[in-house]
Amino acid sequence: MLPVLESSQHLPYPKRPKTPDSTDRKKAVLYSIHVYISTRPKSWLIFSFLLLQLLFVLLIRSLPVSVSPRHFNLPSNPIINNNSSRDSCSSGKVYVYEIPAMFNKELHDNCQDLNPWSSRCDVLSNAGFGRRATGLDGLVPKNLAPAWYWTDQFASEIIFHNRILRHRCRTLNPKAATAFYIPFYAGLAVGKYLWSSKYTDQDRDFHCQMLLKWVLEQPFWNRSSGWDHFMMMGRITWDFRRTRDGDWGSSCINLPEMRNITRLLIERSPWDYFDVGVPYPTGFHPRTESDIRQWQDFVRSRNRMNLFCFAGAARKAFKNDFRGILLQQCRDESDSCQALDCAGSRCSNGTSAFLEMFLNSDFCLQPRGDSFTRRSIFDCLVAGSIPVFFWKRSAYYQYEWFLPDEPTSYSVFIHRNEVKNGTSIKSVLERYSREEVKRMRETIIDYIPKFLYSEPEDGLGSIKDAFDVAVDGILKRFSDGWKDQW
Ligand SMILES: *[C@@H]1O[C@H](CO)[C@@H](O)[C@H](O)[C@H]1NC(C)=O
Ligand SMILES: *[C@@H]1O[C@H](CO)[C@@H](O)[C@H](O)[C@H]1NC(C)=O
Ligand SMILES: *[C@@H]1O[C@H](CO)[C@@H](O)[C@H](O)[C@H]1NC(C)=O
Ligand SMILES: *[C@@H]1O[C@H](CO)[C@@H](O)[C@H](O)[C@H]1NC(C)=O
Ligand SMILES: *[C@@H]1O[C@H](CO)[C@@H](O)[C@H](O)[C@H]1NC(C)=O
Ligand SMILES: *[C@@H]1O[C@H](CO)[C@@H](O)[C@H](O)[C@H]1NC(C)=O
Repeated sequence: MLPVLESSQHLPYPKRPKTPDSTDRKKAVLYSIHVYISTRPKSWLIFSFLLLQLLFVLLIRSLPVSVSPRHFNLPSNPIINNNSSRDSCSSGKVYVYEIPAMFNKELHDNCQDLNPWSSRCDVLSNAGFGRRATGLDGLVPKNLAPAWYWTDQFASEIIFHNRILRHRCRTLNPKAATAFYIPFYAGLAVGKYLWSSKYTDQDRDFHCQMLLKWVLEQPFWNRSSGWDHFMMMGRITWDFRRTRDGDWGSSCINLPEMRNITRLLIERSPWDYFDVGVPYPTGFHPRTESDIRQWQDFVRSRNRMNLFCFAGAARKAFKNDFRGILLQQCRDESDSCQALDCAGSRCSNGTSAFLEMFLNSDFCLQPRGDSFTRRSIFDCLVAGSIPVFFWKRSAYYQYEWFLPDEPTSYSVFIHRNEVKNGTSIKSVLERYSREEVKRMRETIIDYIPKFLYSEPEDGLGSIKDAFDVAVDGILKRFSDGWKDQW
């Protein structure tokens, strides 16, 4: 399955690397072709094809810039939201590339064939929010139920694309742009190739390699060698970081052309400055500011009968599996802990059981899953429940732009070894006074908008949601970095 990484305890947050000086595009193209060949089976057919491509590229380079790429229609209507009564794009504007449809629209249209088991058309419907939620009667306020969907955790590429087309700081003039967004559905492209051995490394890398080839041919690439380019990749970073043949994932992020592009991801590599962690999409997509205010009041006033809760499946295959220990502790303390055993596929389909559990608990246990992060962290926070972490990399080194700086202000950390040594989680959590619990919950409630992707493509007026925070952060990063040079 996924690469199991040794967790190190003190990861420094990576510093910004030196800004680029100049660029040599020809070298980059040649290098990319070299990499392309060296990662492929020795095939004369492919080699001669590449040679022709190289000649073609050199030919294009010798012509004036009038050779323009083919453009395709985008999935959504590219109307600019130029309402200038909101703040004035002081960090600059974003240009959205029109990339060939094979890199986004066609993948989306092909939703019945994106993973090996079942169609993804349902989960990617409603602009990426998925099917409307059902079974919430009596659980959430009646008028908020229509703001809930069974959103898939890997749907961010579509959500971000729809939103950025309507961003108030979008420009149609690339010369005026501080940032360039590449609306490539990298996660959708690799999805079905991850799981089956009948697919090859080449299958997994194909879309990404072709996309990068296309981007490097754009006139605005070499202005910055990609330093002002960014994209959303809707899976965890480890799905794009294959280093050895036959291993898990695509090698997209490891390709040299990708080096300078900033990647928004639901789980980042703590060592890579160009990976930016953004919240997993949850099911709540408020339609108005008032939806958010009402939800904040609702989670604040909940009467929570459980001290803590845990949802997850123990891995029977591993002795002493950490999730198994948590599940056991939770069951042993059933008067203060609610457990949701997700063995089999019981928790995979849209279900209100999670939401109900988080709404009824002061704390929620968040061990690592197959990777360090889980969507459940955000399900928990949105419900106003306080997360308990056992790995620092589960959140503290991930979502810097979205979470409070001080971890103890909104979460509890218990080192996994203490739990393995027999520390009772209940006894740790019981030491928090009602006042402390309330204070932590208030911090979380203040931050709830930053964990959400709101429904209107224009966003929610004065409230910044996760998408707004991500794009503001990118623009600020790019404009700060380049100020001296321009
Ligand atoms: C990335 O930036 C460096 C300069 O910092 C530059 O030398 C390199 O060519 C760039 N990579 C690509 C693929 O353009
Ligand atoms: C921008 O706003 C002005 C008025 O504020 C309006 O006339 C114009 O059509 C708008 N442009 C776009 C592209 O929406
Ligand atoms: C790269 O930049 C130079 C100017 O530095 C420009 O003349 C050239 O057209 C650019 N190449 C491409 C492919 O856009
Ligand atoms: C998931 O739920 C939907 C609607 O409730 C149902 O039609 C579908 O069969 C369920 N899928 C699985 C795998 O249980
Ligand atoms: C766990 O127990 C071992 C052996 O008793 C001890 O060496 C270790 O320091 C303990 N770890 C923690 C985190 O308490
Ligand atoms: C612009 O935004 C403000 C504040 O969100 C809103 O009150 C106003 O109606 C908007 N104007 C237009 C033309 O959309």
